Amino acid sequence: MGDRLLIAIIAVIHVLINHGLAVGFIPLVTLLEYLGFRKAKQNEVANLEWDNLARRLMTIAFIITTTLGAMTGVGIWLSASLVNPASIGSLIRVFYGAWFVEWIVFVTEVVLIMIYYLSWKKSNVSVEAKSKHIMFGVKLSIASWVTMAIIVSILGFMMDTGSWVENKTFVSGFTNPIYLPQLMFRTPLAALMAGSLALFLTMFLTPNGSDIRRKASRVIALWMLLATPFCAIAAFLYHHKIPTLMIGNLPVAVGTMDFQSWYDLLVYFIFGALFSVLIVAGLTFFKPQIKIPKLLYIIPVLGMLGFAGIFERIREFIRKPYVIGNYMYSNTIRKDEYPLFKRDGLLKYATYSPVHEVTEENQLVAGEQVFLLACSRCHTTNGINSVVEKFETMYSLKEGEKLKPEMMKAYISHIENARYFMPPFPGNEKELDALIVYIKSIQENRVPVEGVQEKGLQLSKN
Ligand code: HEC
Repeated sequence: MGDRLLIAIIAVIHVLINHGLAVGFIPLVTLLEYLGFRKAKQNEVANLEWDNLARRLMTIAFIITTTLGAMTGVGIWLSASLVNPASIGSLIRVFYGAWFVEWIVFVTEVVLIMIYYLSWKKSNVSVEAKSKHIMFGVKLSIASWVTMAIIVSILGFMMDTGSWVENKTFVSGFTNPIYLPQLMFRTPLAALMAGSLALFLTMFLTPNGSDIRRKASRVIALWMLLATPFCAIAAFLYHHKIPTLMIGNLPVAVGTMDFQSWYDLLVYFIFGALFSVLIVAGLTFFKPQIKIPKLLYIIPVLGMLGFAGIFERIREFIRKPYVIGNYMYSNTIRKDEYPLFKRDGLLKYATYSPVHEVTEENQLVAGEQVFLLACSRCHTTNGINSVVEKFETMYSLKEGEKLKPEMMKAYISHIENARYFMPPFPGNEKELDALIVYIKSIQENRVPVEGVQEKGLQLSKN
């Protein structure tokens, strides 16, 4: 599968749950609970129809966020720090204080979600208890937004470090140019995602043709319609702030190299999906008399989840060749380390490599190490985005035809010019030759590269 895809799957699941069922969802549930409270008749604490709907929506959010949501959150740390320890290390150094605060807020959020969900039924005994309960919902909404607001700064920093590259202070890193536009975009995006999910779920949690279904779905649809203009304006600002060089990566980011020429079509498709969300929300709000079949409400859900998933892929892709903008390449090597590696070779400083210099005898072993260091963050040997297959396709080789070392050498020496999203080759000439020997060998025998977890670690003595 490759490192990139592994992290991407975990992270996209996490962000869909975080935005769709926490950041955007909890304020909406709190709003529905509050409306139930306001609509209570005399000698009632809350209107039970509204209250039950809000509580059931929360049951779903509670179960998913505290299991899959929390696990994938930890999963991002685990996978990203295994794949690229150097970049996580750098980010922790810059954002130590922010991450510490984020952790405290996150623990608070977990405690609050427990209180909010588990004390729901008990809060229906008195007006005081209910008001207090609603306030817990408000606090929980704030806490979940704050954790996102901190993490988004780190995501923005990875795309564009702004003035941090010169003055290296926490404040300059935290207030990077992409931070606010991205936060402004994600906040209404989360509201839209949550609205689509809540609308869909409401169709199944309320009786057919009931008053509560009609009224609650209008409230949710209005919530979505209100979020939309903010989302559109912020999307525009955000796009405007993306560094120009990264915009060049967009076609491959949206559709991969195979489909980059479909870029325009894919963009229409993405906007089409968003438009369908608006149509469903608009009809639900303005024309409640039109009966939309229940299952059609899945369209906004799929549209929003798909949109958010693609947005994350694009964000992660366009910052290439960097993992931290203008500072560290995705292959874990810092920009300012390059001259040293070019001069002395990459293997000389590779702590976990069994060989530190390329010789006639060790070319294959050395080449494998060079591949692991320079290409494996993004390419597999024979799996998805396989380096062999990329070369075969690029040179339009026929079945059984062998790769040609001279052409590969010329290509890799200037790889960053051929494709802006790939970092320059970091090693010396002997290492480049070894890499080519290795790639040619895997073209022939198709042996996948084994990880340390399978092969163990052999350290050389010198
Ligand atoms: C930052 C991630 C990254 C790194 C590091 C990287 N690549 Fe790539 N490479 C890509 C991506 C992404 C593609 C395009 C995948 C797609 O969409 O099909 C690609 C495409 C290629 C292609 C095909 C280019 C074309 O125009 O058809 C070759 C060849 C290639 N890579 C070789 C290498 C080699 C050799 C290394 C190591 C020295 C390397 N890459 C390192 C991300 C990377």
